[in-house]
Amino acid sequence: MTTALPDRSKNSWLLQVLKWLWDPVGYIETTAKECGDIFTSPVVVNLGEVVFFSNPQGLQTIFTNPQQFPASGNLNKTLQPLLGSNSVILLDGEEHRTRRKLLLPPFHGEKLHACGQLICDITKNVTSQWTVNQPFTIRDTLQKITMQVIFSTVFGLNDQSRYHQLQELLSARLNAMSSPLKASLIFFPFLAKDYGFWSPGRKIIHQQKQIDQLLYAEIQERRAQEQSNRTDILSLLLSARDENGEGMSDKELRDDLITLLVGAYENTATGLAWAFYWIHHLPEVKEKLLAEIDSLGENPDPISLFKLPYLTAVWQETLRIYPVGVLTLPRLVKESIEVGGKHLEAGTIIFPCVHLLHQRQELYPEPKKFKPERFLERQFSPYEYIPFGAGARHCIGAPLAELEMKLVLATILKQYHLELADNRPVKPQRRGLAIEPGGGVKMILKGDRISPL
Ligand code: HEM
Repeated sequence: MTTALPDRSKNSWLLQVLKWLWDPVGYIETTAKECGDIFTSPVVVNLGEVVFFSNPQGLQTIFTNPQQFPASGNLNKTLQPLLGSNSVILLDGEEHRTRRKLLLPPFHGEKLHACGQLICDITKNVTSQWTVNQPFTIRDTLQKITMQVIFSTVFGLNDQSRYHQLQELLSARLNAMSSPLKASLIFFPFLAKDYGFWSPGRKIIHQQKQIDQLLYAEIQERRAQEQSNRTDILSLLLSARDENGEGMSDKELRDDLITLLVGAYENTATGLAWAFYWIHHLPEVKEKLLAEIDSLGENPDPISLFKLPYLTAVWQETLRIYPVGVLTLPRLVKESIEVGGKHLEAGTIIFPCVHLLHQRQELYPEPKKFKPERFLERQFSPYEYIPFGAGARHCIGAPLAELEMKLVLATILKQYHLELADNRPVKPQRRGLAIEPGGGVKMILKGDRISPL
């Protein structure tokens, strides 16, 4: 039956915003209990009231009708201070489609698979710094790995000292938005302005300037080099031409480079941290996974590892139970329409809610339990399982994230015997726009694994 407007929580605006900042998963779960799977929410403060949406049939309609539900880049303005106005995430319509066509090829097919060995080598190199019996936070290691992988993919190997500086500045820039309190700088952009020496905005603006200087220096140097045999993403973007024969401007290049770096490094490290937590929290999962990885022998090739069915199911279940991003990017209602049994007026902003969709009992029985087998027993449609979104803005880096997460997991599990430093269940907590395992997952290296005969 059609109702007039999606319901909204009876809690005050302030209470909802605070809960969203401090406990986003708790906020959406309790609000969905109160209001159902389509509800109106005031928490994305820069956009006013928006609709959180997790009805699978309705999501299919939304994702497959980009004319009626455009993924308007204008709605992502809150990301502009970090990514820039020419980032693919902020573009619209034809301009957006053309840019995606340009960015997608390096993340597919042979070009992507060529990264496999590089990912394994970087993982081995970074983890060789671990010390036996000393507790450490595995998210920090994973961040180092994902940062090095995306830097090598985007820039190739060139000016190492510039990359080190960039990596440090970028980590600091993103850490400045990591805790719930700091994340309010994203939702209340006026807080991120420069109000003088002590204001957080001043530091962020300064960091951003330094990052931009390094990126522009790299772009300038590469333009001067004109090396056509390089295959890294920056080289491909530098040689790309539109139908009028025009190349990308420095500003366009800068904005897309930073978009890829930020999208890749934070999300993939967070997804991996969750995977390490679940695998070590549930011994039966770890045992099954090790048996499968070991079945490939001493030196498995990256593509065989990538194809392992149980490893694939563990990766899928990791991104189901806590999908890194609880929401996709927003969609706009172009003309008034009924969807999922609700009437939505033209101009309504919809946020497809990944977390609530992935928690639906009828799709995922016992949704709070980590059960990779569910992905071996049935297939889910692209509108029932959406860790990378869907449709017009489906994540450009999803194939790289899949390859990287599986290879980092397999490489570390095969070589090392790790344990959780504390086996209490971890809670999901906000890290900028993402949801990470609280504390970043403390682990202890017990030693090398004895290779099976
Ligand atoms: C586990 C890792 C990752 C997760 C969970 C993730 C998730 C997402 C989600 C949910 C979206 C929005 C999709 C939508 O609104 O329909 C998205 C968009 C995007 N992601 Fe990812 N992502 C990951 C890794 C990456 C990587 C490795 C890259 C780059 C190499 C990347 C680059 C992007 C870009 C550029 C967009 C915007 C696409 C557009 O505006 O058309 N992401 N991602």
